[in-house]
Amino acid sequence: MNRVVRVAAVADIHYSKASQGALQSLFAEITERADVLVLAGDLTDFGLAEEAKILAKDLTSSLRIPAVGVLGNHDYEAGEEKEIASILGDAGLRILDGDTYEVHGVGFAGVRGFCGGFGRGALGAWGESVIKAFVHEAINEALKLEAALARLRTPHRIAIIHYAPIRETVEGEPLEIYPFLGSSRLEEPLSRFDVTAVFHGHAHKGSLEAKTGHGIPVYNVSFPLLKERLPDRPPYRMLELRPEDGREVPMGTSERRHTSERRTDRRVAAEGTSS
Ligand SMILES: [Fe+2]
Ligand SMILES: [Fe+2]
Repeated sequence: MNRVVRVAAVADIHYSKASQGALQSLFAEITERADVLVLAGDLTDFGLAEEAKILAKDLTSSLRIPAVGVLGNHDYEAGEEKEIASILGDAGLRILDGDTYEVHGVGFAGVRGFCGGFGRGALGAWGESVIKAFVHEAINEALKLEAALARLRTPHRIAIIHYAPIRETVEGEPLEIYPFLGSSRLEEPLSRFDVTAVFHGHAHKGSLEAKTGHGIPVYNVSFPLLKERLPDRPPYRMLELRPEDGREVPMGTSERRHTSERRTDRRVAAEGTSS
């Protein structure tokens, strides 16, 4: 048997008090077409438990496949993030915060992530204590992602992050706000553990997909972006995986090799980072 596992992903659905029923048909379609649903943060608009309850209703009435995701910055707005995670968990959506989830032989590691900018422009932990605290939040999220990925033993590892781990998938947004859309500190763990693919959101006007410096596909699955850039398709991306042999069939849009060299590198790195 060489069963394909189909992973559907979307982010930034921003459920509000008025959203009842808004995505029921989408969840029903995803149930028909996919084996697992990924929701990459900003599930609510103002971070209200009341909004999460409305989303929970739509999930329980329309989705019949496993679902896994992370919270986004909007879900933290009202300080009700724990209640939101609990409400959505009761509705069958497993919220990850530095932990893992395995289904159909595919492993998921998820964190919210944080901002701070990319590459040489990334903010450094230097100067005022408030700057150091800001930078340490991004470093902590990267460490949580690394620790979660280290626990996965599945042939495929999928990372779910709300913020972008690379600059390329926020391109399209105003340059001035790039530093608030993600952090390249999140990129290093992806290469270390030879992640199959990354889903993120947050950059509503970014770019659909790009690759990390090590060739790992990164998909910006922000709902508004998908609607705008792929208007003729339903607003989610689909990744098809073959867990048995570690091969990937990436939506017919990009190719990526899984070389034995990279896997060896990853295994060595993983053994050296068990703390
Ligand atoms: Fe958003
Ligand atoms: Fe966001």
